[in-house]
Amino acid sequence: MNARFAPGARLRGTYVPPADKSLSHRAALLGAMSSAPVHVTNYLAAADTTSSLDAVRALGARLEARADGLLIRGPGLRRARPGAAIDVGNAGTLLRLLPGWLAGQPAGGSWTLDGDASIRRRPVDRIAAPLAAMGARLDAREGRFVPLTVTAAPLSGATYELPVASAQIKSCVLLAGLLAEGETTLIEPEPSRDHTERLLTRAGAGLARTGAEIRVRGLEALALDAIHVPGDPSSAAFLVTAAVLVPGSTLRVEGMAANWTRVGFFRILARMGAALDGELEGREHAAPDAEPVTALEVRSGPLTACTVAPGEVPLAIDELPLVALLGCFAEGETVVRGAGELRLKESDRIATVVEGLSALGGDLEATADGFAVRGTGGLRGGVLHAHGDHRLAMLGAVAGLASREGVEVVGMEAAAVSYPGFVADLAALTS
Ligand code: S3P
Repeated sequence: MNARFAPGARLRGTYVPPADKSLSHRAALLGAMSSAPVHVTNYLAAADTTSSLDAVRALGARLEARADGLLIRGPGLRRARPGAAIDVGNAGTLLRLLPGWLAGQPAGGSWTLDGDASIRRRPVDRIAAPLAAMGARLDAREGRFVPLTVTAAPLSGATYELPVASAQIKSCVLLAGLLAEGETTLIEPEPSRDHTERLLTRAGAGLARTGAEIRVRGLEALALDAIHVPGDPSSAAFLVTAAVLVPGSTLRVEGMAANWTRVGFFRILARMGAALDGELEGREHAAPDAEPVTALEVRSGPLTACTVAPGEVPLAIDELPLVALLGCFAEGETVVRGAGELRLKESDRIATVVEGLSALGGDLEATADGFAVRGTGGLRGGVLHAHGDHRLAMLGAVAGLASREGVEVVGMEAAAVSYPGFVADLAALTS
């Protein structure tokens, strides 16, 4: 589906972003692992998170839609139903987290995970290596792609140093650690989103953190009761960027998750000089088991270029395409380094962002692990291909609003992976 986004429509009003995708995936999985029923409020209704609900249902969870949310009655930590084929769709998070739970189930279980064309080119060796070191039995196509077969086996705790900062790999190893004999120690090169740690702490899993090390021990059961999913900062980032770039805009964002491991983009935005008011959680205030929520006010205004350092990358990974777009409008050169992980997302986001925005008149250059953008005072407009990547589709839409001639997005339907109401929200705020 093609969609055209015309320039000039300023954003006004109050905006509540859709529920957080990362937290919704975890609510489905950890909800199914809990012995007690878990009541989830504000679960994200989108393609990716529907794949997680379908997966836990196939694994024996019973789901009940209630007026005020979703009740998950799981099979429990050590009782996933054996023998299902699981279609993860487009969901990389589901693909990486689920094997951590399945690998340590009682002997006899075996599951095959597969997904769409994008998932078929995204590597699973990053989880296969630590899981194999714990005793897991995995079989991936060419050793690194789906279909991935997980055969249940006894696991033992291990010490694993993550080669890259990745919340998906970290979460997978922590879940396997819950099922392993003894202690599992994980060492992170840099912090990444910590939702799994916060939820496991709430579930009484006895997680211990010292500096870059996280330790967890095998246990018999997990106990969670209620999970509220706040608004997704990664989805909000698109409308906030539009408000910054389209002259005359003022937007109030409410109910957005403010966990410091998720709001790196907003810190970058503030550094570029955007008019942004509101509280974002700082690292020093991190509550070990809660997800803070905030309200922000944003107004349009001029921007200056900035450099994003490698340590900031995991805290803003899904928003880096928007940093490229902002760079096109900023005074000076914006540089992102240490972001090679972008090449392994729903598309190769270094290539698709640089090609996509260059085709709209931007002056960008791809590097092996990031990009450099020379601000040229704006974008002309044109056609942007989403390449089946939800964040590319929404990037094209925001670029269109901020451009001189408008943008036609080819493949706008991809937005439904994380944000089915994106076009409607944009229309409501620009009318
Ligand atoms: C996610 C972690 C990130 C992010 C993805 C969601 C998660 O991936 O890009 O959209 O929910 O854990 P990596 O941790 O692999 O970088």
